[in-house]
Amino acid sequence: MTEPTITPKRVRVHHLKQMKDAGQRITMLTAYDRFTAEIFDEAGVDVLLVGDSAANNLYEHETTLPVTVDELIPLVRAVSRTAVRPLVIADLPFGSYHGSPEQALATATRFMKEGLAHGVKFEGGTAVVPQVRALTSAGIPFLGHLGFTPQSEHQFGGKRVQGRGEQAARHLVDDAVALQEAGAFAVVLEMVPAPVAAEVTKILEIPTIGIGAGPSCDGQVLVWTDMAGLTSWSPRFARRFADLRTELLAAARAYSDEVRSGAFPSPDESFDH
Ligand code: KIV
Repeated sequence: MTEPTITPKRVRVHHLKQMKDAGQRITMLTAYDRFTAEIFDEAGVDVLLVGDSAANNLYEHETTLPVTVDELIPLVRAVSRTAVRPLVIADLPFGSYHGSPEQALATATRFMKEGLAHGVKFEGGTAVVPQVRALTSAGIPFLGHLGFTPQSEHQFGGKRVQGRGEQAARHLVDDAVALQEAGAFAVVLEMVPAPVAAEVTKILEIPTIGIGAGPSCDGQVLVWTDMAGLTSWSPRFARRFADLRTELLAAARAYSDEVRSGAFPSPDESFDH
């Protein structure tokens, strides 16, 4: 393991650029609650993303589209109040920013004021540049998201790799440059061929954070439930670094068995008076 050289007490957007310049990989995970925020902070994760993937991971929706601003804000607040070192980024859900720069600014402002986020993310390239400019000129740090953007899943016809072929790759590079010029501090690249992500990473001055985009990005992000093996299935690009589902299942079974047998609670776990 390479020891990090840039170790701020609180990660700010400029530290991510310093990490890129120093060749120090940025680590990012999703978090939706105080427990994961605390554990990932202790583990040294640089950025916590309160993703709209909460739609699938907490609210049991099939896609990210149904989750609302009001459902996400309390999650962002819990993560922001807990995390000491990581930068906390809130994801703007479908329908809360596409309408106009004014709508994007109003939604982002709610996430910053009510959610206590340190910055926001939303999906899209050149088409959302006016929205990005509205945020960055109001002092709101912005994280871009290109490639497979889950809020456009129906338009893409499913969860498909994006940026394949010369024209699509060129389009992706143009979108990434447009976001950088509009003031984005970094860009997430999701399900993009590794060589295309490598090219974007080389061209951009700001960091790229990959998810299913190969090893050349400046950082990596995973949905924490995939990373820790809490889900029964995870996508091909998501390595499972633990098997929490099996652990939790075993704990819940042991608990139930001991309640049923009378082994729990023991005298030590009871009050005499
Ligand atoms: O919502 C989310 O979890 C995301 C990551 C997949 C980048 O946008």
